[in-house]
This record gives sequence, structure tokens and C-alpha cells, in this order.
Amino acid sequence: MRLQYLLLFIFVSSIGITSCKNNSETALIDAANLIPKPVSVTSNGEAFEITDATSIYILGEPQGATEIGQYLAEKLRPATGFKLAVSNAADNAKPGNIYLEIKADSTLGNEGYELHVSKDKITLSAYKPAGLFHGVQTIRQLLPVAIESPSVQQTSWKIAGTDIRDYPLYHLRGSMLDVARHFFGPNDVKRYIDLLAYYKINLLHLHLSDDQGWRIEIKSWPNLTTHGGSTQVGGGKGGFYTQEEYKDLVKYAADRFITIVPEIDMPGHTNAALASYPELNCNDTATQLYIGIEVGFSSFCTKKDITYKFIDDVLRELTALTPGPYLHIGGDESHATKKEDYIPFMSKVQEIVKKYGKTAIGWDEIALTTLQPGTIAQFWADSANSKEAVRQGAKIMMSPANKAYMDMQYDSTSKFGLHWAAYIEVDSAYSWNPATLVNGIGFENIAGVEAPLWSETISKMDDIEYLMFPRFPGYAEIAWSPEKGRGWDEYKVRLGKHGSRMKAMGIDFYKSAKVPWVE
Ligand code: ACM
Repeated sequence: MRLQYLLLFIFVSSIGITSCKNNSETALIDAANLIPKPVSVTSNGEAFEITDATSIYILGEPQGATEIGQYLAEKLRPATGFKLAVSNAADNAKPGNIYLEIKADSTLGNEGYELHVSKDKITLSAYKPAGLFHGVQTIRQLLPVAIESPSVQQTSWKIAGTDIRDYPLYHLRGSMLDVARHFFGPNDVKRYIDLLAYYKINLLHLHLSDDQGWRIEIKSWPNLTTHGGSTQVGGGKGGFYTQEEYKDLVKYAADRFITIVPEIDMPGHTNAALASYPELNCNDTATQLYIGIEVGFSSFCTKKDITYKFIDDVLRELTALTPGPYLHIGGDESHATKKEDYIPFMSKVQEIVKKYGKTAIGWDEIALTTLQPGTIAQFWADSANSKEAVRQGAKIMMSPANKAYMDMQYDSTSKFGLHWAAYIEVDSAYSWNPATLVNGIGFENIAGVEAPLWSETISKMDDIEYLMFPRFPGYAEIAWSPEKGRGWDEYKVRLGKHGSRMKAMGIDFYKSAKVPWVE
């Protein structure tokens, strides 16, 4: 029996079919198609079916597992119509159910999980709740594509029998959303968070201030948002998050094991603040609001005490909104700041971050200064800066613009995006290794991988999705999955099968000709 199943799997995968259109039964999803690819997957030839009689049981002390059971029940509900109960159980003896367990296996790390699917039950275990959460994402991807439907679908909800042990390669796996060039409201950010969570991402870096807009309410400096937040690229009405809205986003992300990293970019990229408060300018004159996209013309007045009072107030209020460990202080493209002013400025700002008990992240130019212990440099353009950060003992966040910037066009016909760093087709976006990209920066120097999305050319969620997908699942895989056993030629087949899932999730993705899409 097992051998027959195995042969069937091999046959089905080799001809690239994941669903049979004329059959009311949907073919089982082979766990070998998961994105990001798990560390270890084996098929056991069985299958488990979720029905309205299935319960979700928490084994042993819940330790945060109950909330994840409820999240799983919620995710399964719209398409199945089932209201799966979540309760505690002493053991996993009763067949037909899903069992979640926090277990004392520290070798799984804080985000790893084990998933066993047999004909009798699903058992998902992890050392920490984050691992269970990531395991739930794996379960979602193993279910028929119809599971992503917002309305009840008539199909059988079968999962192929599988044994998975999985944990991430990089501790920090992120994406940045630029809400400054164009403002995206809380609902868009929540959808962005849900998309990140689906691919086991754990950081959302929000670029909250730039020349074109200031997007976070700072109560001690109210003009930042009333004036500085009142426009965006192209002259639209802009917007900002009230502190209450922002706290709600932080909680929404935390419930999905995602830490928000707020960025206040400085001393350049500061026109929105300079337009809001004349005293931040060396000539005491407020600038005009700015709706263009050229950069490098603005700078805080680094010699004035009021500048540091301002930054202290902003970072103090931001710290109070930020349970996560990081504050991003920008530092990029400060072409209007003299180098001899930039260096002490970024040092002082790092001191303020430290005073508030946080760890600073800065774009790679921050390595021109003396880095505080723990400060992370984000490689985007300059490998010499990044190597200098490593020389100082810092860790690097890998975001190479010519590989990982999701705002780069796929090719010259792309309807959104820029191309100053590169055209980045899906194969190029996938085909790089953070640990070998820059000579002298190895795995041990890397804190994590982040795919930024700048928003000069995009103003709606659909536009975000077009630039993000289908590149983003590849970044998530680079950050999560070991290099061994994966590569573009096999990944593109998995991605092709993933297309119908993205479609079912309502993702408006770019249908790259590089990918063998399977309907
Ligand atoms: C950047 O793209 N200026 C970090």
C-alpha cells in the first residue's frame, strides 16, 4: 500500500499536477511543495481528513498553545464552515483530532516545530508558541487551496500524511514597508502582516518618516503629523497612525509572532519634520512640504541642542509604543549632512536609543560611526560600510538593493517600481545566498534577512501585492530554509504550484514568465 502511494506521489509531482479539476476530490498536497521549504519532510503515505467532528486539543500545560489553537480554528472556519472546538486533553489517544503541544525539546529553538500527520490525527509540537504558530502556517499550506476561500467550499479537507521537523536558518526574517512615501492605513498594514505571517516572517520594519511624510503621532510634537503627515508623493492627502492605532498594529503583529521595528530616518530624509518645526532647521525657517521622489537634500541641524531634545522626545514616545527590542534610526543617504557632522550625530542618536533600553538598527552608512555594542547595520548598497560594521563586531541585516528590494521592477514593462538598483525578476530575487553575497560577510556575521518595499510608485494594497508577489515567498525561503536541497530549478516548480494558492488568497501577483504556473 505504502509503495503504491509513494509511486502515485512521484507520478503526480513529476507531471506537475496538484489538483484534479474534474474530480470533486482534490488531490493531496505533497509536503515537498511547501514554501519555505522545511528542514526535513517525509511522506508516510497516509492522509488525515478534517471534518466537523474534528476537535483541536491542547496537550499538557497550554503555555500559550490555546491562543494558537484558536487561531487555527479561525483560519479553518470560513472555507470549511466548521466551528472546531479548542480544549485541553490529557493525551492524544482519541482519533480524528488535531493536537497542539508545547514540549521541552529545546533543540527546536524558539521558532521550530514538529508536525506529524497520520490517518488518525495531526500532532503539532514546539518548544515555544512561535513554533506552533509557524507549524499552523504549514498546516494551512498542506490543505487544499480552497482553504483560503472566504466562503464555505464543498470539498474534503484532507492532508497528506507527513512527518516534518522544521526550524529557521536566520533568527531575524523581515520585510520593510515604506508608509512614508505613500501612506497605507491600518487595514492594509494588517493584511501585510498576515501575508508575512503566512511565510513565517518575524519582523515588520515600518519606515515611518521621510521627506514626504511623518506617519506616527508624537504627542509632544503634534505638528509632525498634523502638518508633516498631511501629504505624500504626488500630493495626495497622506495620513498617519494615532498612537492608539499604532498600538493596535503592534498587538496584531505580536499575536502573529511578528515584532514591529519602527524607523525614524535621520539626519537626512527628514523634510516632513523640517517642514513641521522651523527650529529643527539651521536657519530657523520651516521648509515646504515635499511630494517628489528625489532624495538627499534634507538634514536635521546637527549642531542644535533642540535637535537632540526633539529626537529624545520622539524616541521616548516610540519606545513606549514598542515592546520589541529594536529602534531603526535610518542614517542613509544623508548627502546634505557633512560627514564630520554625521558621525557625532549618529553616535548621539545611538546613545539615546541605548538610554531607552533598545537596540539600534541603521542603514549601512551607520558603520561610518562608532557602533554601540549590539547595533545592527542593514546592508542595502555599500559592502565596504557593511564590512566596516562587521570589523566593529556588529551583525548585519542583509537587504541588498539589487536582490532584495521589492520595489525594483521585474523588467522594463513592470507597471510599478523603479530600477535604479536592478531589474529583479523572480529568479534573480531567489538566486542569492546572504552568507556568500559579500566577501567577508559570512553566516556568523548575519543577524537576518529583510526584503524592503519602498513606496514611491505604489499607493494601494493591490500595488503592494504586485511588487511583493511572487518574489516575497522566495525571500522568506532564503531566510528560513537551509541552502542545501533547494535551488531555482526546483523552487520555480514549487512556486508554480503555489500560484493558485496566492490567487485563492486574493493576491494580485505578477505572473512572471520565468515560473511554470499550474492552474
Ligand atoms: C535606502 O534605500 N536608501 C536605504
